[in-house]
Amino acid sequence: MHQFKYHQGALHCEEVNLQNLAEDYGTPLYVYSSQTLRNNYKRLHEALGNLDHHIAFAVKANSNLSVLRLLADLGSGFDIVSGGELFRVIKAGGDPKRCSFAGVGKTTEEIRYALEQGIYCFNIESLAELEFINNVAESISEIAPVAVRINPNVDAQTHKYISTGKAENKFGIDYEETMKVYERASALPHIQIKGIQMHIGSQLTNVSPFVEAVKRVIPLVKELQQTYGIEFFSIGGGIGIVYEEALASGPSHWWSEQENPPLSPDVYARELLPLLSALKLKIVLEPGRYMSGNAGVLLTSCLYEKKGRDKTFKIVDAGMNDLIRPALYEGHHEIVPIVERQSENTVIGDVVGPICESGDFFCQNRAIADFQQGDLIALMSAGAYSFTMASNYNSRPLPAEILVDGTETTVARKRQQWTDLIAGEL
Ligand code: LLP
Repeated sequence: MHQFKYHQGALHCEEVNLQNLAEDYGTPLYVYSSQTLRNNYKRLHEALGNLDHHIAFAVKANSNLSVLRLLADLGSGFDIVSGGELFRVIKAGGDPKRCSFAGVGKTTEEIRYALEQGIYCFNIESLAELEFINNVAESISEIAPVAVRINPNVDAQTHKYISTGKAENKFGIDYEETMKVYERASALPHIQIKGIQMHIGSQLTNVSPFVEAVKRVIPLVKELQQTYGIEFFSIGGGIGIVYEEALASGPSHWWSEQENPPLSPDVYARELLPLLSALKLKIVLEPGRYMSGNAGVLLTSCLYEKKGRDKTFKIVDAGMNDLIRPALYEGHHEIVPIVERQSENTVIGDVVGPICESGDFFCQNRAIADFQQGDLIALMSAGAYSFTMASNYNSRPLPAEILVDGTETTVARKRQQWTDLIAGEL
């Protein structure tokens, strides 16, 4: 569910007309809805009911300070993967004691910083990392709280680049090896065993891989409870969102689908709560996309239409450097005009950016509204893994980010200027 809707023929974010935002701040422009973020957080929190739980937003999905601050104010913790993300969380007023540090390649500097800030836990991905963290902790006379990330070897049924819970992936420790890593952890003087963690993949639209993975790991969780008195079990992130609805059915159809996504927090909770409640442990969740994916759009303007020999190209002022998901994961983002069209006047074509790469497209051979030069369009569901994956490729300044709350707009990040592109260079 989200707060991007047409009012009197104009696409709005909450009470704000997106056309006005584009005129005031230019394009390409990221726009986020505060109410959608709040609703998503509350919906998940409420679906989990009495379960002793802790929601840790995956910062990699959207690391804008204003977004992090909004979530911190709701009580969210944070799943971080770098020292930089921890720095952002702290700057946004988030509590380091509610941060878990994941990732296969933590550096000395990052581990030391996280220890000094007193984070909740390090999620360990290898035996070598465990030893390394123990050494860094010893060097500054700290004790590092850890959980082992287990790889449950479950097929998440998602795109191969965002599937992480199979034995062939680089993530986590094999089920059979996990106990040995805990044994070693218990022998290390600067390590404190705190929990167990898993994450099987991202953009899951079916609850069954989660159920399968949780069932597979539960016997181990029980053993760890008895042997080491662990305090939490993190089941990771991965709840998928609705990206794709045929424009041919009309935008109103698309909005209504958002109300009943294939994997809602209710379905997720209904299937998992019976398994998790029985454990009497704190359950940590690390949602990223679920929380912010449908809370953002990327506004872009049509620069030119080019009628090629075989097809029509709509060339827009956003490029793959601003939103790389279509190029990298064949990601689908709905493309809707800011001014609602009464007729279903569509054309089959590609929406492409200005970057010198054939992969620089937002859709290919899709039935799209027949928008023209100067028209504004929105690339929907661009609140997660969108701005955070943007780059300066082709020396293009990063877009601005706007946070809307009711009728209010905040410039959450200024548009970069050309001078920003060369800052720090000799
Ligand atoms: N926890 C861990 C350990 C993760 O690796 C991830 C995401 C999450 C939580 C959050 O997953 P989510 O709830 O957002 O599915 N850039 C890709 C997605 C990469 C996901 C990486 N890990 C995309 O745009 O689809």
